[in-house]
Amino acid sequence: MIVTIDGVAASGKSSVASGVARALGVPYVSSGLLYRAATLLGQDAGLDLTDQASLLAYLRDHPLRLEPLAEGNRVWQGQRDLTPELHSSAVDQGVSQVAAHPEVRAWVDDQLRALTPPFVAEGRDMGTNVFPHAPAKFYLTASPRVRAERRSRERPEAVEAIEAALIQRDALDTTQSAPAPDARVIDTGPLTLEQVIVAITSQLPS
Ligand code: ADP
Ligand code: CDP
Repeated sequence: MIVTIDGVAASGKSSVASGVARALGVPYVSSGLLYRAATLLGQDAGLDLTDQASLLAYLRDHPLRLEPLAEGNRVWQGQRDLTPELHSSAVDQGVSQVAAHPEVRAWVDDQLRALTPPFVAEGRDMGTNVFPHAPAKFYLTASPRVRAERRSRERPEAVEAIEAALIQRDALDTTQSAPAPDARVIDTGPLTLEQVIVAITSQLPS
């Protein structure tokens, strides 16, 4: 069985997916980390992120591996663990450009569909495009200010700057971010992390 958790930037997807996965005793899968890792590699190699063909060629020569650990996903390129570098502001700024390329999306989708269920998958288009037949789908929202305040506890940056960057990234990600028609939408604003996790686990089919 696959549970999908999609939502806007910093809405709590990976924390919630991790909690739901732990409650179920299954792994969770962070699709955003693959887009982030592709962006980091492109930036490190000095590639033009608008150039889909050169990005893809580089990714084929430098394959990435997503390790869907329950306590937190990791991405490897050979022996190099890219994970600690994937949540920088530089990656945040480039990632939507990379994620807009249809062939990069197909490259990510192939890796996700090769994974063996059960798992909880989180991202933007898990319930619509990648796993449309998943029996349980959720979509997380929260106001930009609430999301920025949560992120500001993880990063030494002003809330206003984080909020502006989140709004900009949401706008760039609109195409792939529509909720699935059969997804249950949860506003996480008034809830604690634990309450969101319970809201999901209590609605899962038995
Ligand atoms: P995303 O994967 O959507 O970017 P994260 O899982 O990184 O989001 O969550 C962003 C931050 O919000 C984390 O520090 C998380 O612990 C925090 N958070 C606080 N309260 C909640 C809540 N009610 N629901 C979801 N996340 C929350
Ligand atoms: O939660 P947050 O938006 O901070 O990060 P993420 O889930 O790691 O996603 C990073 C970026 O990857 C998003 O801004 C999208 O551009 C892209 N993404 C996507 O297009 N499709 C997905 N399924 C997941 C992420």
